[in-house]
Amino acid sequence: MTQPQYDAIIIGGGAAGLSLALHLAQNAKIAVITKGPLREGATYYAQGGISAVLDAKDSVESHIEDTQRTGAGLCDPGVVRYTVEHGREAIQWLVECGVDFTTETAPDGSTHYHLTREGGHSHRRILHAADATGKEIQNSLVGQLKNHPNIDVLENHIVVDLITSKKLGQDENHCVGCYVLDREKQQVITLASRFTVLATGGAGKVYLYTSNPDVSTGDGIAMAWRAGCRVANMEFVQFHPTCLYHPKAKSFLITEAIRGEGGILRLPDGSRFMPNFHPDAELAPRDVVARAIDHEIKRLGIDCVYLDISHQAADFIRSHFPNVYTQCLEFGIDITREPIPVVPAAHYTCGGIMTNMTGQTDICCLYAIGETAFTGLHGANRMASNSLLECLVFAKAAAEDIAARIDEPYQAPSLPEWDASRVTQAPEEVVISHDWDELRRVMWDYVGIVRTDKRLQRALNRIQVLAREIDEYYTSHTVNNDSLELRNLVIVAELIVRSAIARKESRGLHYTLDYPEPISEKLQNTILTP
Ligand code: FAD
Ligand code: SIN
Repeated sequence: MTQPQYDAIIIGGGAAGLSLALHLAQNAKIAVITKGPLREGATYYAQGGISAVLDAKDSVESHIEDTQRTGAGLCDPGVVRYTVEHGREAIQWLVECGVDFTTETAPDGSTHYHLTREGGHSHRRILHAADATGKEIQNSLVGQLKNHPNIDVLENHIVVDLITSKKLGQDENHCVGCYVLDREKQQVITLASRFTVLATGGAGKVYLYTSNPDVSTGDGIAMAWRAGCRVANMEFVQFHPTCLYHPKAKSFLITEAIRGEGGILRLPDGSRFMPNFHPDAELAPRDVVARAIDHEIKRLGIDCVYLDISHQAADFIRSHFPNVYTQCLEFGIDITREPIPVVPAAHYTCGGIMTNMTGQTDICCLYAIGETAFTGLHGANRMASNSLLECLVFAKAAAEDIAARIDEPYQAPSLPEWDASRVTQAPEEVVISHDWDELRRVMWDYVGIVRTDKRLQRALNRIQVLAREIDEYYTSHTVNNDSLELRNLVIVAELIVRSAIARKESRGLHYTLDYPEPISEKLQNTILTP
């Protein structure tokens, strides 16, 4: 059988993957692979917006300073500067792609983008499309991509593993393609490529409660790890302070922009508590707010705290936050009149596959961009709305790097087909769902907002048992979507716990009762090598 050969395979169709595809498509034959429908990823659900310096009173230096302060000393200064300096250009490109950011009219009649505020930012610098920015970006990029002659889109295809020259018995490690499960046909196909890009998003699903969609299972990180890439700073998992607390809401996010526009966090008795924790109160960096809420919930034995924006005019609330307003109303909460019950949930993976400034990983011809990558931008805590920016800036950098290399001489190797001769259909799937539940519960209970050495060690012991069981299942049974995701999740869980155990201090998103203070000598990334 002839194997399809692409110039570039892009695994992931969110902001990172689609942007790269569009930047590169003029020069290359591309496949974009998504394991669900094309729209399904964190990008589609992004609410607050995307940060960039557009206001005359704001400055690049200020955005850099805020990012580094929020990152608790661990951001890579060169990467921060590069990202922030390319912010305006990224916004301009999105506008050219058709993204319709919310505007406002000034008293003199001129129209300009409405800029909102979020935690950590000392200026209004968040561009947004009301409170559904991700949907607007995703739909616009998909619109640009549709029917592009150089781009094949493979939806409902989950990449199983990368194929590297090392796995084929060579000394040097190049990525040469991947095995992909067509979920409809239940058949594994082999795709060959000159360049492969992981744009697979984050790993929030490793926790029981998360703002992330179902596809966020850290597949890219696990695949890269298995292929031989280093990963960094996996202990820094960001918990978003305010997800809707309602039995029927699947961790629906209540955007931080609500606090940016005056929302106040209250205890059940109506009292405000954030000023006791940080001078910036509700607009303190996310790690501080999430920890404060966790502290109050545990101290008072309550189920949730409340986010109150009802003091603002109802029209203002409905026009700025139509998505949150409508969703909450469906759950019987009118946010123009009453406070919203909220709890923290796992939201963003700050660590990931180590890359350089153009997205190149440790393996030749393998790139990683977006949430799956570790560029050094976020340090120990990502500042709000810097993630979409990172997706766009590094997608462009990677596209330029690939375009510059695409004409180098290349002899495509012949790749072995997927071998399913030694596996059988699993007699029952219940093992998978039990292990999913157990893994996510262990992570939530022992590797959450507040950690200790004992809890982390307990988690590691359980995870290692689960990892053996899952591996045994994988090697004996026909692959399916759930078993593949679980195999990836258990690797990501172990990477998070091992990184957390290695960091003997508290910094940014990693807080441990055993070492409650930051240690200046620990000003280094946690790097794990396969
Ligand atoms: P995603 O958009 O998550 O896309 C991942 C893609 O990879 C999907 O297409 C998926 O199908 C595919 N994929 C994964 N594994 C495989 C596999 N094995 N095989 C094939 N395909 C695979 N950030 C901001 O900057 N501003 C915000 O306002 C904001 N709000 C947010 C709100 C919510 C609810 C969430 C969850 C996140 C928010 N974030 C925000 C974070 C931001 O949305 C994400 O970090 C960003 O969208 C990630 O984009 P991405 O392209 O890296 O991945
Ligand atoms: C939000 O809207 O609160 C999410 C913003 C982000 O994660 O950057």
